[in-house]
Amino acid sequence: MAHQRLKTSIAILGCGDVGSTLAYTLILNPICSEVILVDPKTALLEAQVRDLSDATYRGNTGTRVRAGTHRDAGQADIVVITAGAKQKIGESRLSLLSRNLHILSSIFKSMAPINPNTILLLVANPVDILTYFAQKMSGLPESQVLGSGTTLDSARLRGVLAQKTEVSPNSIDAYVLGEHGDSQFIAWSSILIGTSPIRLALPDQITPAFKEEIATHTRGAAAAIIASKGCTAYGIGNMAASICKYILFDQRTVRPISFFQPSLGCCLSMPAVLGRKGIIRPMPIVLDETEQEELENCASHLRGVIAGAEKELVADKALEKALEAEAEKVF
Ligand SMILES: NC(=O)c1ccc[n+]([C@@H]2O[C@H](COP(=O)([O-])OP(=O)(O)OC[C@H]3O[C@@H](n4cnc5c(N)ncnc54)[C@H](O)[C@@H]3O)[C@@H](O)[C@H]2O)c1
Repeated sequence: MAHQRLKTSIAILGCGDVGSTLAYTLILNPICSEVILVDPKTALLEAQVRDLSDATYRGNTGTRVRAGTHRDAGQADIVVITAGAKQKIGESRLSLLSRNLHILSSIFKSMAPINPNTILLLVANPVDILTYFAQKMSGLPESQVLGSGTTLDSARLRGVLAQKTEVSPNSIDAYVLGEHGDSQFIAWSSILIGTSPIRLALPDQITPAFKEEIATHTRGAAAAIIASKGCTAYGIGNMAASICKYILFDQRTVRPISFFQPSLGCCLSMPAVLGRKGIIRPMPIVLDETEQEELENCASHLRGVIAGAEKELVADKALEKALEAEAEKVF
């Protein structure tokens, strides 16, 4: 009889602020039988597993938490990558690239061989660039490698519009697209407040100053929180848990998510239908002329960062080979 997989598992690489908050959210809103935590800081890993397990004993969840290796994680249904350095106060997401790219590369070496059906969800920053390299390094199909991208920025946008319009965020369709970073943009022309385009829902208010105020809020929200508490965790923990649910339950939910855009040559956030196989299909969105220009500028900026990172990876490989050759000479 063919072996049947009865467990559903989500592996979380990195159990710092974001990874542990995601694990906690998955315990409270159970969608899988097992959460596997992986972190090279073994004392932290053990403590997080014990503390999170304590939260399961009340009996309101069937989800269990355990520590695992990178190799175990590579067999999970979903692997969420939160491993990596985070921004210090005033630091940009892009400044993390070099450190987090090296961590990503070591992760794929230790996870191999990766389950060919696994869905990879990148959360570590800079998330769009890491999503691009994760697809190359993992060898998984493009549709199975996604980044949380502007899901959180879009939720923040819905939050601020909910306050302005006095309508629940759930009744608002509004997308921040592009980079989860400074070149992101708001697709103003497609915002719907309930059934109304935003220009009808907020007549006379949609001025350039209003748009700039909201865009600045959305773009700067993470930095403002980090300045006071050193990290952001609850928002992203919740968003990542929701993305896992759309995938495991094959929910076909439309969200802005970072994935490879063949016509733009990079990963960035555009609306997509999410389901059990990851990106089921891109969801077309009509952008006006300004938004289209913003999208192209954003992609050109991300392609530039990717080109720089590719050079760094080539130089690293050359150095690695030279060191190996040197070591062979010595022995
Ligand atoms: N995409 C988003 O919207 C979003 C939001 C918040 C934070 N982030 C990013 O998420 C990342 C994590 O943030 P945090 O606040 O949890 O940081 P943190 O420092 O609290 O935790 C990171 C953890 O990763 C672990 N780690 C390092 N190398 C590892 C490896 N090879 N395998 C497994 N674990 C490894 C570290 O030991 C550490 O415990 C950062 O890059 C941060 O910028 C993204």
